[in-house]
Amino acid sequence: MTARTIDGKAIAAEIRAEVKRDVAALAEQGITPGLATVLVGDDPASHVYVRTKRKACGEAGIRSWDHDLEASVPEQELLELIERLNSDDEVHGILVQLPLPEHVREQTVLDAVRPHKDADGFHPYNFGRLLAGSPLVASATPAGIQELLIRSGVEIAGKDVVIVGRSNIVGKPLAALLMQKGAGANATVTVCHTGTEDLAGHTRRADILIAAIGRAKAITAPMVKEGSVVIDVGMNRTEDGLVGDADYDAVKEVASAITPVPGGVGPMTIAMLLANVVKLARSTI
Ligand code: GUN
Repeated sequence: MTARTIDGKAIAAEIRAEVKRDVAALAEQGITPGLATVLVGDDPASHVYVRTKRKACGEAGIRSWDHDLEASVPEQELLELIERLNSDDEVHGILVQLPLPEHVREQTVLDAVRPHKDADGFHPYNFGRLLAGSPLVASATPAGIQELLIRSGVEIAGKDVVIVGRSNIVGKPLAALLMQKGAGANATVTVCHTGTEDLAGHTRRADILIAAIGRAKAITAPMVKEGSVVIDVGMNRTEDGLVGDADYDAVKEVASAITPVPGGVGPMTIAMLLANVVKLARSTI
């Protein structure tokens, strides 16, 4: 079997067109959704991501304010900036790009963003609401993965989903999303991590396998069940260019559907971030 490719770029374009229509409808009520992005330091990958997010805002008609800070910025200064953005009525969403420099306490910064302006859904309040099944906004990458599965016609309910990776950005919130009772979820979710014994034993049972490991080609063909759906969240810069966490060429001969890297999950993260900003702007009405 050769897997069909799940075209994240095309599905993200659909969502971005919907967001643009929603932004135009809000404009008729006198509201222009706005996102403030905060980028600290000079991590090259973060610069690329944030530039892409800012450009996408512009294309959707969302205002964006760019805050680029030196890597050496004192934590207090960063917290004061967030406080100003929290109090600015024109700013509906705030995004602090991760990772932050080592001298800055990441959780303290994420805690400082007002939950109702938390475009990434990283605040513990939003994390908790997601777990409880009534999210205000869900983190963009997990929400993008769920939407990608739904819009590409992959049945989720009742399926065995195995997530490899337990990060706060992807693995944990995605598990919370897909285990909920309700449409586009209701899966049996297993989360594997560095402490997992017999990783392949778990992944081979997956109907839907989600690789969020951060290591190039870590998921090999023998780890994948025939006919399963593989979602690759990896973005690894290697000598061969940008590659995912799955060994794409080999895995696509076993799976029934697979997301490419690039062009799979990445564009969905951007689209869902924009959708989150619109949701937050709408909630102020
Ligand atoms: N770093 C890696 N992924 C993300 C993301 O989705 N949002 C933010 N803010 N930082 C990230």
